Amino acid sequence: MSQETLSNLLQENRRFAPPPELAASANVTAQTYEEAAADRLGFWERQAERLTWAKPWNEVLDWSNPPFAKWFVGGELNVAYNCVDRHVEAGLGDRVAYHWEGEPGDTRTLTYADLQREVAKAANALLELGVRKGDRVAIYLPMIPELPISMLACARIGATHSVVFAGFSAEALRTRIADAQAKVVITADGQNRRGKHAALKPTVDDAVASTPDVEHVLVVRRTGQEVAHHERDVWWHDLVERQSTEHTAEPHDAEHPLYILYTSGTTGKPKGILHTSGGYLTQVAYTHHAVFDLKPETDVYWCSADIGWVTGHSYIVYGPLANGATSVIYEGTPDTPHQGRWWEIIEKYKVTLFYTAPTAIRTFMKWGEEIPARHDLSSLRLIGSVGEPINPEAYVWYRERIGAGRCPVVDTWWQTETGGIMVSPLPGVTEGKPGAAMRPLPGIVADVVDDQGQSVPNGGGGFLVVKEPWPSMLRTIWGDDERYVKTYWSRFEGMYFAGDGAKKDDDGDFWLLGRVDDVMLVSGHNISTTEVESALVSHPKVAEAAVTGATDPVTGQAIVAFVIPRGNAGADVDGEEFVAELRDHVAKTLGPIAKPRQIMVVPELPKTRSGKIMRRLLRDVAENRSLGDVTTLTDSSVMDLISTKLPSAKSED
Ligand code: WT7
Repeated sequence: MSQETLSNLLQENRRFAPPPELAASANVTAQTYEEAAADRLGFWERQAERLTWAKPWNEVLDWSNPPFAKWFVGGELNVAYNCVDRHVEAGLGDRVAYHWEGEPGDTRTLTYADLQREVAKAANALLELGVRKGDRVAIYLPMIPELPISMLACARIGATHSVVFAGFSAEALRTRIADAQAKVVITADGQNRRGKHAALKPTVDDAVASTPDVEHVLVVRRTGQEVAHHERDVWWHDLVERQSTEHTAEPHDAEHPLYILYTSGTTGKPKGILHTSGGYLTQVAYTHHAVFDLKPETDVYWCSADIGWVTGHSYIVYGPLANGATSVIYEGTPDTPHQGRWWEIIEKYKVTLFYTAPTAIRTFMKWGEEIPARHDLSSLRLIGSVGEPINPEAYVWYRERIGAGRCPVVDTWWQTETGGIMVSPLPGVTEGKPGAAMRPLPGIVADVVDDQGQSVPNGGGGFLVVKEPWPSMLRTIWGDDERYVKTYWSRFEGMYFAGDGAKKDDDGDFWLLGRVDDVMLVSGHNISTTEVESALVSHPKVAEAAVTGATDPVTGQAIVAFVIPRGNAGADVDGEEFVAELRDHVAKTLGPIAKPRQIMVVPELPKTRSGKIMRRLLRDVAENRSLGDVTTLTDSSVMDLISTKLPSAKSED
């Protein structure tokens, strides 16, 4: 073999077998892998039968014009009908769809029958505003029930929604509204954030001042704060409340555009990722059933993500509702009014299935294990992770401190572009390894390849690719087919390349190693930031770590690390001794090649609004450069905090 693509340094020998009770009644068994491999399209066809179709498809997959896929060709269905009405028709109208919990402690319970009425009213309201099938509607709402209701109302009438996370700026909102040419924007006066009212409407006013396509702004009253009134504005309580609770859902084509969701990743102009109807709903319903082992009669499921991200679209709204699940939605932040709020919610609603992100888990590690320990989390039976590689230490902390050592952890790899989970353990089948996303799900053909596109042997590292189309794949980038082809399908002939580095361990299981743009080239070795971060986090005094490569005259790039100590780490974490101890710890764990040149102890790390560490900015700091674009940061003041901590890294200019 030529030069290794990505080093495989981290060794991890802990193993966790599925709990026997879970395995005994698991929704999906080992046999499914073989069935799906033997007849992939037949497998997906059977999964599509979970849904109610108004007209059956005549072809499962049309891949005659790659990479433009069509799934369930000729089939027709209504996504909102599948998520709501059919459960009511099946006699489940009284089942709770959402237990909603506001940050100030107000609550709302929506049964499937309630949801049906609310969605019908909202659909009728959109029609009254002139929204028609094929139009785009931008949604800029906090985590309140009107958010999923608005999405479902769009789906119902065949309007394509574009949800924009309610933390984005006016400029980010404006470019997204303009790119999608949205006709209506749905927003709120404000939202509850950390015990305060944060305004939203002025941001929308700003954004739509220069978006001529917007005809109306529909405004939910949430906080009651003052808002400016423009002629295009309509209050939700004036318009929606007086609508009929009846609306007949018409079927739409399987390939009808369901939504656009903009993703910027950590760099670049946002891409409008387009998802369609039948294939998308099939895969999110199936994976929610399979990966979470959902038993809709008894489970209470909570995904802590914001609906403004794809995780919320697929695993708060479409997947769980298609499956008739009971879910929790929480409006606010995890530390309001105290750092145990999430655990209080799990205790209150007796949550059985919980899905969150490594960034949250590492924050809880930093706050200390005594906080979750004060709550009764015994209802939990399975816990999941998504969004970033989960470091083995964070996985084990999550399993023990939240999952009481009993709950399997499912580390799920996927992307805005993939629409649904692609690589993940199956909780009743897979022996879990801390830090590994394990195997492609049944029906998914993914691999790790070298820079020539050749499959790497076990023990090797390279690029994660998907080799066959899958039902919930993005169909294109909105308005830019060429960019779609170029971004995802041109690196390796005939394969979808996701941008992530990965390795196969000796058993052939997959470990995600972070974005390939983040890989460091140190003395001729490609070293993954994830592995070095995991080694740092495995030190008992480290809660979180971010690693980047800085130019180095000797080694090409040198490893520079930023670490946040754990809450209980003591006072000596600022000294040189601590840094020396950490450098040695990494050298011992991964080998001397991975020893960081420099380690800085910091109070916070720069993160995107969805919680991913922005290593690019840390590289700027490490290379003494002035900072690049910080507009996607959650809180740009963390960069000041970091820079003042680092006399050596201060810019000269
Ligand atoms: C990127 C996609 C998928 C919903 C949330 C993020 C990283 C995601 C994992 C995981 C390692 C992961 C990848 C991916 N990522 N899940 N389990 N292990 N990395 O959606 O914002 O589109 O980000 O998140 O780098 O490419 P997204």
